[in-house]
Amino acid sequence: MRISVNQAALLLTSGNVVGVPTETVYGLAASLYHSTAIEKIFTLKGRPSNNPLIVHLGEAIQVQEFVKSIPDGFVELAQAFWPGPLTIVLDVQPEKIPNRVRAGLQTAAFRVPSHPKARQLLQLTGPLVMPSANLSGTPSSTRLEHVEADFGINFPVMEGECCSVGVESTIIIFIENKWQIIRQGALPPNAFKTVLGYMPLLRGIESDTSPLCPGQLFRHYAPRTKLLLSRACDKENGTVIVGYCDRRYPSNCRLISLGHSTDPNEITGNLYVVLRSLDDLEIDFAVVDVDLPVEGIYATILERLYKASQSNSDE
Ligand code: TXA
Ligand code: MG
Repeated sequence: MRISVNQAALLLTSGNVVGVPTETVYGLAASLYHSTAIEKIFTLKGRPSNNPLIVHLGEAIQVQEFVKSIPDGFVELAQAFWPGPLTIVLDVQPEKIPNRVRAGLQTAAFRVPSHPKARQLLQLTGPLVMPSANLSGTPSSTRLEHVEADFGINFPVMEGECCSVGVESTIIIFIENKWQIIRQGALPPNAFKTVLGYMPLLRGIESDTSPLCPGQLFRHYAPRTKLLLSRACDKENGTVIVGYCDRRYPSNCRLISLGHSTDPNEITGNLYVVLRSLDDLEIDFAVVDVDLPVEGIYATILERLYKASQSNSDE
């Protein structure tokens, strides 16, 4: 069910869950102040309870209300990247953010989205928690139809232009006196160099069971169709190849294009649309051309494709 900004605000402030477009991916929104709505998010998504939610704010200044302290570089990061696809994890006053949202951590993740309609909504509602609007483990939603496919056509989804970036925000945390990236995303590490004076370290998933970004533990972004990552595409007749329109593939294969291999922003814009479309083809597997440079935003694309190809589920 497609609803206006005002209708969405009314539903959220009365304790309902609503699909909301942002510049990265669609969010599944609930008011920070409605515990039953927050609970419903976990149920609807099938989300593990130890995976915390991002708090979305209309204005950067609002973080002051929740945090314990402001780390060095925070103001510069907020000025440079907010509103936009950056999520910043900060130490909070625990009583100010429900335990459920933090999944018991002493930190919370904050983002100020730039999507005009999402911003309009946040001005009306106040802080909203928003995980990506997809069933846990499956590709995120970048079109209104994706949200309807996952939660039903009667589920309320706010109208607004679809997600221009197409992949989730980058998540950053201040630890050991430096900012470190704990989830690759729309902003590559080198985007931070001029703001911080250094490239933030990219944290891998630690071998222990409590990594800095709990969500990294779980299966993610995966369609039902098995994905085989490959740098060479000489496959048998009829093989579906997820590749690029400016590359040549064997003529007996069927190309599903992510866009031009030279245009990573076009690829991120198409990524989840393409991954979701594979499940409509009812094929056993698709081969994904991952012959891309491992740099900048391409590294995020490769990380998403790698995760999407992992079929073992923790959820
Ligand atoms: O672009 C985005 O970030 C989208 C849009 C809707 O804003 N949201 C999104 O939310 O991707 P979700 O729930 O799909 O992913 C949030 C990630 C999870 O991996 C979670 O573990 C991590 O953020 N996270 C949340 N709170 C955290 C915290 N306090 N410390 C570390 N990681 C946290
Ligand atoms: Mg997600």
